[in-house]
Amino acid sequence: MTANGNIVLPAPQREGGLPLMEALMKRRSSRKFSEREIDLQTLSDLLWATFGFGGGGKRRTAPSSHNRQETDLYVALASGTYVYDPVENVLKLVLAEDIRALTGMQDFVPVAPLNLVYVADTSKITGKDERGTIETAYVDTGFISQNAYLFCASAGLSTVTRAMIDKQALAAKLSLRSEQVITLAQTVGYPEE
Ligand SMILES: Cc1cc2nc3c(=O)[nH]c(=O)nc-3n(C[C@H](O)[C@H](O)[C@H](O)COP(=O)(O)O)c2cc1C
Repeated sequence: MTANGNIVLPAPQREGGLPLMEALMKRRSSRKFSEREIDLQTLSDLLWATFGFGGGGKRRTAPSSHNRQETDLYVALASGTYVYDPVENVLKLVLAEDIRALTGMQDFVPVAPLNLVYVADTSKITGKDERGTIETAYVDTGFISQNAYLFCASAGLSTVTRAMIDKQALAAKLSLRSEQVITLAQTVGYPEE
């Protein structure tokens, strides 16, 4: 942790993992989580797999319409709430507060060590009408969420993507601008022991 409360992540391990076909076989939603914390290396690997910068230049691990990359990953941990900076590989402190319970409406949400909140900055989606903008934000999030599913299948983590969120309350807590849209959240943790 740095003086300003940011968390510097170790470099992601971008090799290995389960063969793709095995990860696809294992991918599933799970709603039972242990309280065990996720170590920083695993967190770094997860975030990179979910929406890090891939092999070449501007490419990410998930596609986005016109390569706009409008989705930010908010990371709700017990120690606070952060936004993932995939360039610096840093979690930037947003709130020095545990808001995991606010990221969902189901009982496992505050128990699990990590909740990702996908936030689309719709000001980056230009040239579309309102409906097209929202469709783009949600479709792009879907690809990102599936990456998290596949990483979790590979790493033996439990996960579930979630639409059931009090978006108004969460947006207010995160002080989101009106153009920032919460699309989905995703709970991640170790399976219940
Ligand atoms: C867009 C979307 C929203 C979802 N929202 C929730 C949710 O709010 N809560 C939940 O427990 N599961 C949620 N799920 C998980 C689905 O229930 C789950 O993917 C489905 O039952 C199929 O199970 P599987 O993922 O294990 O194949 C959601 C899935 C998707 C794709």
